[in-house]
Amino acid sequence: MPDFSKLPVHVGIIMDGNGRWAKRRGLPRKMGHKVGAETFRTIVRYANRIGLKYLTMYVFSTENWSRPQDEVDAIMTLLRNYLKDVDNYRSENIQIRFLGDLSVFDEDMQRKMAEIQETSKDNTGLKLNLAVNYGGSSELTMAAAKLAADAVKGLLKPEEITQQDLADRLYTSGEPDVDLIIRPSGEYRLSNFLIWQSAYAEYVFMDEILWPDFKPADLDRALEEYQSRNRRFGGI
Ligand code: IPE
Ligand code: IPE
Ligand code: MG
Repeated sequence: MPDFSKLPVHVGIIMDGNGRWAKRRGLPRKMGHKVGAETFRTIVRYANRIGLKYLTMYVFSTENWSRPQDEVDAIMTLLRNYLKDVDNYRSENIQIRFLGDLSVFDEDMQRKMAEIQETSKDNTGLKLNLAVNYGGSSELTMAAAKLAADAVKGLLKPEEITQQDLADRLYTSGEPDVDLIIRPSGEYRLSNFLIWQSAYAEYVFMDEILWPDFKPADLDRALEEYQSRNRRFGGI
């Protein structure tokens, strides 16, 4: 069991392996996403229960639009359903924030996302970030454009720009960097997830498990592994 009094402050999860999970069962890929969405709900509730402060879930990347249209549609339907029943999360005291370029979503979804962020903002439990149409490279490009615009307006001088100035313009502004990134399914890469915020993250890759099978006990194992690491941040 991990020591729940010494949890990482911010955990990110790359929810990977839905398609392979379905394929192994002879099911269409969208069934993997459906079961993966259930796993998502279970893990979010568990993270809140154990007192985790920040959790960022990679839901849909800027690159995922390149998948077949029927798969993209199936994922968007799941996202819409999730937005509908998110009231449950509100009653669980979870604060929700969406990370990503939300302007691509239809008006109805955008309105719902804005409403969820607004009405959950004073909740004091888990701070849940949902990365949707999220890409670290586009996030950094957007932040650079904001810096440039502010410089043009005379709000800051280019030669005085600090790391904090850039961090303040990311989707995660005001949040601590990610301490631990978990990725199931056997892929050892970041896939454009939190590339700035993970500068000193610890990584736990769990090859033996696909996201739909991920259980609270697997989160515990990843937290235990994290607690066994020696973080030096360049010191000794
Ligand atoms: C992750 O599972 C879900 C999304 C990227 C939306 P995948 O769909 O990538 O599953 P695999 O990697 O193909 O097994
Ligand atoms: C990363 O998984 C994106 C999400 C989990 C939302 P992918 O399955 O899209 O990543 P790649 O294509 O294997 O790098
Ligand atoms: Mg994948």
